[in-house]
Parts: sequence; C-alpha cells; structure tokens
Amino acid sequence: MDNSELNDIDGLRGTAEAAISAAADEAALEQLRVHYLGKKGALTEQLKRVGGLPPEQRRSVGQAVNAAKQSLENRFRERRESLQTESEAARSAAEVIDVTLPGRGTGLGGPHPITRTLQRVEAIFGQLGFGVAEGPEIEDDFHNFEALNIPLDHPARAMHDTFYIDEHTLLRTHTSPVQIRYMLENPPPLRIIAPGRVYRCDSDVTHTAMFHQVEGLAVDESTTFADLKGVLIHFVREFFEADLKVRFRPSYFPFTEPSAEVDISCVFCSGEGCRVCQRTGWLEILGCGMVHPEVFRHTGVDAERFRGYAFGMGVERLTMLRYGVDDLRLFFDNDLDMLRQFR
Ligand code: PHE
Repeated sequence: MDNSELNDIDGLRGTAEAAISAAADEAALEQLRVHYLGKKGALTEQLKRVGGLPPEQRRSVGQAVNAAKQSLENRFRERRESLQTESEAARSAAEVIDVTLPGRGTGLGGPHPITRTLQRVEAIFGQLGFGVAEGPEIEDDFHNFEALNIPLDHPARAMHDTFYIDEHTLLRTHTSPVQIRYMLENPPPLRIIAPGRVYRCDSDVTHTAMFHQVEGLAVDESTTFADLKGVLIHFVREFFEADLKVRFRPSYFPFTEPSAEVDISCVFCSGEGCRVCQRTGWLEILGCGMVHPEVFRHTGVDAERFRGYAFGMGVERLTMLRYGVDDLRLFFDNDLDMLRQFR
C-alpha cells in the first residue's frame, strides 16, 4: 500500500499542531478549529474521502484520520484552557490595587479676599444692629439717579461713567439705589447695609469696570450726624484692628446734605507720610452724609419727622489697605499663589 494518504494526514496534523500552539487568543484558536475540524474543515474532508478508498486502505486511513481528529480535539481543548488561564491572569494583574500608594491630595480652598472683607464688614455692622439688604445690578434711571436727587441734566451724571443698556436701563454705578428700594418698601426706623457689585465704564491700573461697594443707611426720628460719626469711627477701628485717627472732610453728594468724605490715618506709615498716602498721612476711604430731603420725598418718608444718614465705601480699596495688596488687578486674576495667602 502506498503511504501517501497516511503521510498527508500526518502532515496536516503537524501543521495544525504548530498553528494551535501559536494561536494568540481564543478567537484565533476558534478560527483554526473551524478550519481543521469544522463541517468543511480539512480533516473532515479527509474523513469524507475514506469511503472512496480501495477497501484495503479504508481501515488504516480511517483509523489514522480518527486518531488525528481525536488528538487535535485534545490539543484544541488544552490550548483553549491555557489561553483562558493566561487572559484571566492578565486581567487580574491589571486590576491589582496598590493600597500602599499615597492618596491624591485634595486642595483646601478659602474665601476670596473680597469675600472676606464683605464678611467682616457685615459682622461689624451686624453687631451694631444693621441688617443686610440687596438690590438688582441691572437698575433703572429712577433708582440709580432720579430718586437720589441726580436729575437728567445734573453734572454728577457725567461723573458716573454709566454703562447704559437702553435709555432707562443701566448697570448700577453705585449701591445707593438700594437705599431707594429699601425705603420704598420698609417704613422707618431702619438700619441696613447693602453690599454688592457696581459697574463703571472706566478702567485703568486703579479702576476696574466692576467693583464692590457697601452702602449704609440708618433712618430714625432722632438720627444725627454725631451718630454717623460714632458708627463710622467704630467701624474703621474694628475693621483695621487699630486705633486709627479718623477725619471727616466736607464734601458733596447730591443725595446727602451735609456730605463728608472720611479719611483715616495711613495704615502703612501711621500718618508719617509715605508713597501710598502720597505723603499726606491720610487715606480716603468712604463718602457719607445726612439723607437729603429730596431722597425722602422720592421714597415717601416724612422728612419733618425722620432724619437719616447714609454712607458708601469701596470694598476693593478697604481690602487693599487692610491686607496690604498693592495692585487692584490681583483681585481679578484668580492667581492661586495670591489667593492661597488668604486661606
Ligand atoms: N454712592 C456714593 C459713591 O458711589 C457714595 C456715597 C454713598 C456717598 C452714600 C454718600 C452717601 O461714590
């Protein structure tokens, strides 16, 4: 008998075994199985041909094909098992958690210096019985100007660098419109501060288009300028935690009469005279005065019976003086190295 059939089977088996060992994953292995043992697989075809062989060859070839099939099936199973073990090992190796690794640090934040100043101002006035009131940043002409005794043709309007939205609507240029809104809704006696953002279309090294103010308003039957002085002197000394000198300088605002600007002795040179106070020894920190009768008239407060005082201060300026920040722009850059110093 010629051995060519048997040689073919041996060859096929050898190639298949080599391919099985080399299969990279289960999918590749399955493709190989179909190729050799599937319905139309190479070995299956051999088996089909056994019937057509001369009778003396059928038995031995048939046995050889079956033996090859059996052995390849075993090889496939073994290889599949070892591939499964390998991939499971790889998966669990990838999932290993190293509990000894240091944790990722969570940075601790803190309030912005402007926020800190606002909180301090609210706390100090809170102890004096002042509540906190708020008003809209988008205002109308009446509340921002008219009711504050700044009529259309008043020269003070030109000083305000107003952002207009339309003829009657604007971004408030100061927190004083909150005085108007509060008095229109609440009968005296009253005592409030109104912290918030204000806008002026003016910006350079010492001015930003948005900044913060705190307004103050007290109205009662016996309120006097002496009360205003007492409250502001107390505030300034509490805020700066220093026994500063305070001076009231006559000034002008359309909505107060009389009006004053308040200076404190320079916190950097204690009044000696330095670059910050421009050698004067004094720093201007706020404007104030007794509520003008026109303002009472616009808000329906009986000016014969009540009197009041009002004041307004810039929060950025207070913060710069309190914490020794020498550049206004630092408040708006959100530079972490700067902000961290206030944590
Ligand atoms: N509104 C004034 C300003 O923006 C400040 C001020 C408020 C003055 C209240 C007097 C009374 O400059």
